[in-house]
Order: sequence, then structure tokens, then C-alpha cells
Amino acid sequence: MIVLGIESSCDETAAALVRDGHQVLSSVVASQVAIHHPYGGVVPELASRKHIEAIVPVVTGAVARAGLTADQIDGVAVTQGPGLVGSLLVGFSFAKGFAYGHGIPWIGVDHLEGHINSVFLEPEPPPFPFVALLVSGGHTSIYHVTSHREFHPMGQTRDDAAGEAYDKVAKMMGLGYPGGVVIDRLAAQGDPDKVFFTRPFLDKDQFDFSFSGIKSAVSRYIQTHKETYRDDQAHIAAGFQAAVVEVLSYKIIHAAREKGCRHLAVVGGVAANRGLRQAVTLDADEAGMTVHIPSADLCGDNAAMVAAVGYYRLKAGECSGMEDDVYSRVKFRPISG
Ligand code: KG4
Ligand code: ZN
Repeated sequence: MIVLGIESSCDETAAALVRDGHQVLSSVVASQVAIHHPYGGVVPELASRKHIEAIVPVVTGAVARAGLTADQIDGVAVTQGPGLVGSLLVGFSFAKGFAYGHGIPWIGVDHLEGHINSVFLEPEPPPFPFVALLVSGGHTSIYHVTSHREFHPMGQTRDDAAGEAYDKVAKMMGLGYPGGVVIDRLAAQGDPDKVFFTRPFLDKDQFDFSFSGIKSAVSRYIQTHKETYRDDQAHIAAGFQAAVVEVLSYKIIHAAREKGCRHLAVVGGVAANRGLRQAVTLDADEAGMTVHIPSADLCGDNAAMVAAVGYYRLKAGECSGMEDDVYSRVKFRPISG
């Protein structure tokens, strides 16, 4: 079954064609970073307008790159939420029209469910059950995953998401938007022991996170070292990254231990972070566990992960109707059988 995936929940317009939920035939991502960069964050109105311009060329490009024609597509999967409503509506309305026009089924997909299923687009996916750490710009959560469609929440952030903390720290240091990649690069040049930030919630029995304290600690450091902090930017980035990564890795390993899982997954935009990938791989190795992290282009927002979820749901006989609408806030369908 060939599924067309469409993603437009935030500042990326993406389309992909995926065969049988795992073979990526094409994946096109049009990023809006250059548009939002001067504002230091995503401007919802500009994002919606850009999605409208991009959606047709992105979908057409994905179909062409797969070497297919539109009538070879068996179903459509589109991000329904959570995300920016104006942005979501562009992809969602397009998907409805495309499916109606071609007389094929379509389904609205949860963005977070998409990130979790991104590991199945790689050659060696984890067997069920496994424990997944979802780290992105909007979410930081741990789930016990028992099937493609069943996720049992174990913990989540009580304030900022990890990616949000990266973006805010980068903004404080005047490093632009989005900040994750820049801090990651800078951290590699710094000494993580030069500037120490306290690790919050480092407790093996609970799986909630808190990142606003580290973010405020960086802000305080910058305030008290106004004259010199620019010379220490790499050390600050390295210290910040070491604190975030240690907490994330510690929690996912202990969550896997608690559930008796030997396999764990790290997904979402922050899973592209080199420090995190290294640390979790090392810690998992020591614990006798195997870690599954998608390649960097499947960590950030993409439509292949949406198509993968669509495949499992359409195959199970589910589909959406013309009356269905998008949603902005997390509305995870944790246990859906
Ligand atoms: O999954 P994603 O593309 O969008 C959301 O669903 O939020 O994640 C975006 C987040 C941003 O906060 C970005 O700064 C962060 O992922 N990010 C990174 C890296 N690459 C992207 N954070 C740390 N290190 C990276 N290499
Ligand atoms: Zn995302």
C-alpha cells in the first residue's frame, strides 16, 4: 500500500510517499526557517501563508521524486494536530480535497504518534514493547509503546520542552532561531565542565522533566557575566547541553529498566542532537540495551512518519470523514487497540 503523507503543523511543509509503512519512496521538506529567523520564533500568520504557497509544489515534488503518478497512491495521511491551527488547516484541507478527488481513503494523524513511528522507517526497528523518549520543540515525554498504535505515557515535562529550552538559550545568547543545531555545534567546541548547571529531577523513580530551571540558570549566568560571557559561549553551550542530555539519557534508561524493556527509541527534533545520540547509545550499551534513533532527517518534522502512521491506521480499517477538523493541543489517543 502506497500512502501519501502530508505534514504542516508548524514551520515545515512536507510530503512523502511511503510503501507499506516502512519504505520511504520520497520525502520532501520545505523549511520556513529563513522567513521566521528575523523574528526569533515562528510567526503563525506568516507560517500559514507560506504553507499555502508551498503545499502544491511540495506534494507534486514528492510524487515525482518517487517516480509515481498520483493515481498510484492508495491512501492519504495528514497531520491533524497538535500544532498551529492555521498551518494544520492548509495540509488538512489539501488532503481532504486530494483524497476526495482521487476517490481514496484518508486519515488524520497525531503528530506525536508520527514521531514515535519514525523509528519504523529505519532498517532495524525496535520490537514491541519498547520505551520511547519523544524530544521536540513542543514536547518532552516518555511512553511505553506496546504496538504501532498503543502508547502509555510514563512522564512528561512540567514546563518547557527540551527543544524549547534549546531555542530560548540560543536566543539569550543571540545565536538566532532555531537554536538546537547551533548550540549542538557550539557545544562540541566547549568544555562541559567549565560552566556547571544543576541537573533537575534526576530521580530514577519518576519520569517527569523540568527544563525551565536550567534555562533560567543560563540566563542568570549571562546576566552576571555580561562582559565576558561572549568569550565563554562554547563552554556555556557545552555545560547546558551536558545537563539536558544527562537528564534525558538517565530517564529513558531507567524507564526502560522499570518496564523490563531491552529496546528504547529516541525521536523528535532534539533526537538529532549529536551529544544526546552519543550519550544514550553509550548508556544503553552499558545497561545491555539497544537504542533506536532515526537518521537526523527523520528526527525533525517530516511527512514520512505521518505516512507510516497512516498505513497502520488505514490497514486497520480506520479513516477520517469530511466533517473532521484539526486540533491545536495534545490530544493523544494513548490506547486505541
Ligand atoms: O520535532 P521538531 O522538528 O518540531 C516539533 O515537533 O517541535 O523539533 C524542533 C525542535 C526545535 O526546538 C529545534 O531547536 C530542536 O528540535 N533541534 C535540536 C537539534 N535539531 C533540532 N535540538 C538540539 N540539537 C539539535 N541538533
Ligand atoms: Zn515535531
